Amino acid sequence: MKLSGKDELIRVIKSKIEKEGVISFREFMEIALYYPEYGYYTSDKDKIGGFGDYFTVSELDPIFGQLLAKQFMEIYREYFSGEDFQVVEIGSGKGYLLQDVIGSIKENWPDIFDRITFISVERSPYHRKLQQKLLRNFNNLFYLEDVSELPKVRGVIYSNELFDAIPTYMVRVRDEKVYEVYITLKDGEEVVEEERVPPADILSYLKHLGIRLPDGMTTEINLDAVKLLKEIGLKLEKGFIFTVDYGYPSAELYKPYRNRGTLICYHRHKYNENYYENVGIQDITSHVNFSALSLYGEEVGLKTLAFTDQAHFLINLGLVNELSSLYEKGDYRSYERANRLKTLVLPKGMGEKFKILVQFKGIENPRIEGLKVLPPKTDRYRL
Ligand SMILES: C[S@@+](CC[C@H](N)C(=O)[O-])C[C@H]1O[C@@H](n2cnc3c(N)ncnc32)[C@H](O)[C@@H]1O
Repeated sequence: MKLSGKDELIRVIKSKIEKEGVISFREFMEIALYYPEYGYYTSDKDKIGGFGDYFTVSELDPIFGQLLAKQFMEIYREYFSGEDFQVVEIGSGKGYLLQDVIGSIKENWPDIFDRITFISVERSPYHRKLQQKLLRNFNNLFYLEDVSELPKVRGVIYSNELFDAIPTYMVRVRDEKVYEVYITLKDGEEVVEEERVPPADILSYLKHLGIRLPDGMTTEINLDAVKLLKEIGLKLEKGFIFTVDYGYPSAELYKPYRNRGTLICYHRHKYNENYYENVGIQDITSHVNFSALSLYGEEVGLKTLAFTDQAHFLINLGLVNELSSLYEKGDYRSYERANRLKTLVLPKGMGEKFKILVQFKGIENPRIEGLKVLPPKTDRYRL
């Protein structure tokens, strides 16, 4: 496959390969997504929404943010009443979900709203710029670039589709041995993958999680995701972390029928597996290993409360009531919105594809509304 995409990025990749002979797939993905100014996420281009490459939930309807807000307010009342409270979103993108969360708290819980500090942590300068415009009317909102800048948090930290956008290592199993995938170039432009002995931390990750990859499998190992989760976990003093994303526990992620892994590219609402084309122009993403986030979270004092999916979470928090009131209204716009809301809970669709991992710290045996009823503990839900 020919290396193609933004000239600036192709030059960077070529010069690294000229110097070092190869670059790891992880480094390639880091350049493609986050190279300053030209990476997919760091450049000035619409990525999320109708004119972009994919939709995220808050582009469809504010209900997800509204029900998250409802969940956060229950947490405030039960575990933080009278205390200061922080609501932090990491990887907040264009800021739509944060807008729905803040807007809903302001409207429905004005007395609590004044006690809350909102913080948005977003790596992309382009997305930070968009957010600052969109959310300019909220005074109690602070913008950060990196998790390391966060103060100690008492409250809730959440993310939506953050961990799927983190650069991953690629590994391949051949004759029962695990190799890391590097890339090099033939004749200056043809990408050739090379397999090399992986560093010790990839092997210890697999061992720590008890993962035995089937022979012949190519898959991704997201060491940066567990590093980020641990960094976030260390910032949390008391409260909850909600991680919303697509992905599975290890037991499902490494089943033989997923022997090509889950890395995928999105470009103008179509997906492909040509990672080396359109570099910097298309998104590259992978499914999240939720067993890893849960297990590595324990190393920084996070306990896992539950692992659920969007459908169960939203229904527990009252999505059905919202649907009934829309049907009662009976007008065309309400009917249209009801249809939109239904897509958020469809089995085999967004309802099951999107999972929610809830971790906590500094609270005894918490119980929260969004986890009242959980999905059955099949391999897709057993961490
Ligand atoms: C797939 S987008 C999702 C955006 C948004 N949460 C939504 O649902 O529309 C992922 C976002 O995470 C940001 N991001 C990636 N790594 C990050 C990090 N370490 N800290 C903060 N933001 C990060 C990216 O710049 C991007 O805006």
